[in-house]
Amino acid sequence: MKNATTSTFSANPSNTELTKLKASRPLPVWLRGKLIRNGPAMFNLRDTTLQHWFDGYGMLHSFLFDDGDVYYQSRYTESEEYLNATSSGRVSTVAWGTASDPCRSIFRRFMANFSATPTNTNVNVIKIGEKYFTTSDIATLTQFDVDSLETLSTFTPGKGGVMAAHPSYTDDLQVWNMTASFGPRTKNTFVSLSDDLTSQKHSSFATDKLFYFHSFGNTDRYLIAIEQPMRLDFGKLALSGPKNKSFYECFNWDTSFKNIFHIYDRQTGEIQKIQSDLSFFFFHTINSFEEDGSIVIDLCGYDDNKIVDDFYIDNLTTSGIPDSHKSSLRRIRLGLGESSASMEDFKINIELPNINDAYRNRQHRYAYGVHSPALNTHLAAEIVKYDFDKNSATYWSEAGMTVGEPIFVANPNGKKEDDGTLIVLCHSTATNKAELMVLDAADLSVISKASLPQAIPPPLHGWFYGGKFQKNSPETK
Ligand SMILES: [Fe+2]
Repeated sequence: MKNATTSTFSANPSNTELTKLKASRPLPVWLRGKLIRNGPAMFNLRDTTLQHWFDGYGMLHSFLFDDGDVYYQSRYTESEEYLNATSSGRVSTVAWGTASDPCRSIFRRFMANFSATPTNTNVNVIKIGEKYFTTSDIATLTQFDVDSLETLSTFTPGKGGVMAAHPSYTDDLQVWNMTASFGPRTKNTFVSLSDDLTSQKHSSFATDKLFYFHSFGNTDRYLIAIEQPMRLDFGKLALSGPKNKSFYECFNWDTSFKNIFHIYDRQTGEIQKIQSDLSFFFFHTINSFEEDGSIVIDLCGYDDNKIVDDFYIDNLTTSGIPDSHKSSLRRIRLGLGESSASMEDFKINIELPNINDAYRNRQHRYAYGVHSPALNTHLAAEIVKYDFDKNSATYWSEAGMTVGEPIFVANPNGKKEDDGTLIVLCHSTATNKAELMVLDAADLSVISKASLPQAIPPPLHGWFYGGKFQKNSPETK
């Protein structure tokens, strides 16, 4: 399979009843908990077709692992935006890559007390205290019921604006993020979110333009925002209505801009700014740690932002992604004393990264992700495991199968960093259905697999929450 098929982006019904899947072989008994994945799933409205992968209305997929069995369930996130769009048949607010009602500019919508702030949180899931939320790159969190996946409420820290879909966590599991305001000059504020959903503002820094950010570098002491050359043109935003531009089309890739690292010190509250001579784009950091007075940040880096254009659905279902647009595994080293920044490029394509969470914010040996071999135009043809000690990669693939973000779940009795499983939601072109693969993270062999009742558009991100969950949602009693 070279590219995503049109069918994976067509209508996708919810599957609200918890359905037991038939696993090919017994699942490890220690694998107990719930994997929740989030991603764009609805692209066709009555009067409009959403044009970019990031625009689809979000759907939650849950996989409950219990006593060696696995159960599946899904439900659309019924955000205000989703409800308005499905009832009106049109895009109701600001979409990422789809121009909406030309009579109302994005600028006017953003400035109208944020009353039309997007609420389609279709990217990631996070847990704050005992509450579960969906997120995207906007300052809105949508709370959902972890058993039924029903949408409960929305929560906007601060005054809105944008916020990363991937927050950072300190060892005490406090959630950290950054909010950025819209305006001719942008105020970026580091915030922490407490279990009772109060948000605390910390230090701020100003930038000439709003820059795109999706994740951070993070250690227990430092939170690092990486200013990159994809920056918002406020003039384009103001004219977005008459010119019928989408929000993404209001961003420029500034070839003269070099990445700036804004390093927030949680101990002192100070922000150190390191101006680099690097120029790269990224969505995802993999992990970060401190080493000998430096901060090391591993990330999936791109030479520019062409990959965002590649994610228009027309392109995903036709041309796909050329090698020159693909990411590579890169290690950034920030010298705090000398304010230096350097980058090593491992020349291995990797995206949708994951690690053993016990190694988050400390030095890790392995990174897992999706991989696209040379000349393959699909973003996620294989699973890759990268070994930093051996500087080598191993891969898993199966004919006719595309893969999704691998989620590492540690064996509670494991001794080594890679003692655990990778849970991967795949798509089979042979059956046109989704397949759940459980791989041994040590050697990438298949432990078990289970077919789903339908195809699923590739979700973006997910999280495994260990422990016992309710097996009967209200609909299945
Ligand atoms: Fe992401």
